[in-house]
Amino acid sequence: MSEDRNNQSDLSPLETGLGSLAVKQGLATSEDVQECLDYQKHSSDPNQRSLGDIFVERGVLTQRQVLRLRQVIEQQKRHQEIPGYELLGKLGSGAMATVFKARQLSLDRTVAIKVLPRRLSENPEYVARFYEEGKAAGRLNHPNIVQAIDVGQAGGYHYFVMEYDDGHTVFDELADGKVFSESEALDITIQIAEALNHAHQAGLIHRDVKPKNIMLTRDRVAKLADMGLAREADDMEAAKRERGRAFGTPYYISPEQIRGKTDVGFQADIYGLGATFYHMVTGRVPFEGETPAAVMHKHLKEPLVPPDHLNTSLSAGVGEVIEVMMDKEAHHRYASTADLLLDLRAVQRGEPPLQARQVIAGDVLSGLTSEAPALRDHPQAAEARIEASVPTLWMTVTILLAAALALSILLNVVQALTPGG
Ligand SMILES: Nc1ncnc2c1ncn2[C@@H]1O[C@H](COP(=O)(O)OP(=O)(O)OP(=O)(O)O)[C@@H](O)[C@H]1O
Ligand SMILES: [Mg+2]
Repeated sequence: MSEDRNNQSDLSPLETGLGSLAVKQGLATSEDVQECLDYQKHSSDPNQRSLGDIFVERGVLTQRQVLRLRQVIEQQKRHQEIPGYELLGKLGSGAMATVFKARQLSLDRTVAIKVLPRRLSENPEYVARFYEEGKAAGRLNHPNIVQAIDVGQAGGYHYFVMEYDDGHTVFDELADGKVFSESEALDITIQIAEALNHAHQAGLIHRDVKPKNIMLTRDRVAKLADMGLAREADDMEAAKRERGRAFGTPYYISPEQIRGKTDVGFQADIYGLGATFYHMVTGRVPFEGETPAAVMHKHLKEPLVPPDHLNTSLSAGVGEVIEVMMDKEAHHRYASTADLLLDLRAVQRGEPPLQARQVIAGDVLSGLTSEAPALRDHPQAAEARIEASVPTLWMTVTILLAAALALSILLNVVQALTPGG
């Protein structure tokens, strides 16, 4: 469980007491404030006076200063209120925003609210995408997707309301040093692939599939979080901000997102899920590096150490599926998430992943031909080429055999006709 999840009392970064605000504004020292707090605590006064009164009484602040500070606090409180919701505590914060536990008053239920920081709330281009993608996610309904409930704005901040999940994330278990068993990792990966398949069919791409965005409920249902939460325009810049974090975005980001492609497709989600699957079954991220830039360089250039080399108890099938999910070329990573699901379920049943094998065989074949780069850019051509090459090979062998047979008959005839032969 992450540290942040235990911090239930910190309601908001805006929540500031009278004393700390006075210190912050340079009106009092922290010793002065502590003294007044101690005085208030130990005072035997039955009509206990407010801290403001004590500040005035002890000459720390003037009446006027207390009044002004109270106005500032009132204003800050109004800003942290979200109409229709009662904030109950902070659940955690990520690279991008802070998540609160809250009560939705109309339906009397617990929800989670993600509040965007000012940096994003003031970026009109981002805010437009935030509402657009939030709306699209609101139309999705799937047991493996954290349900988007509402989007809105209050006190200058934009917020995203979602289903509250009382559990933890795959990241929390990995951070505890857990290596998932093949069957448990497969089970989680299949559930998230189901979620992605549902979203992809509706035209939505997640773009940030990673252990921190996979929640595990108490009965081990895996749910994809942040579906419909618009990403910042530049994935690489967002990933770089993860610098110094133990398991940040750079470990799961696809090569095409690193290259800054604007038309990132569903294959980016297959890559992120593949990298997460890799981490679960090996206990290691696919590529390690000193800096996010070094990690990203490896996503682009370095061949993947096959997961079954790191964990020799893994079935060959899991290794093959992960290798295809993490192919550096987006168009080599399954034709759809539905196709990926076929392979994942086959491996779960103990059967070979046929689609992955076809892709790997295609890779080997195209690697043998000088036209390989062209074929890699045109996968359909590559497939047609593989299909066409099989009958051609058979025909060549048949012709050669027939020729050999004809030659041997001819030689026999010649030998028979030769006098004395
Ligand atoms: N729907 C939810 N229900 C309960 N807790 C949640 C929910 N969504 C997020 N959290 C908690 O809030 C934390 C912060 O989530 P957030 O999405 O801001 O960051 P992250 O996913 O950890 O990182 P990043 O910002 O890089 O995506 C999560 O780690 C999780 O513990
Ligand atoms: Mg998240």
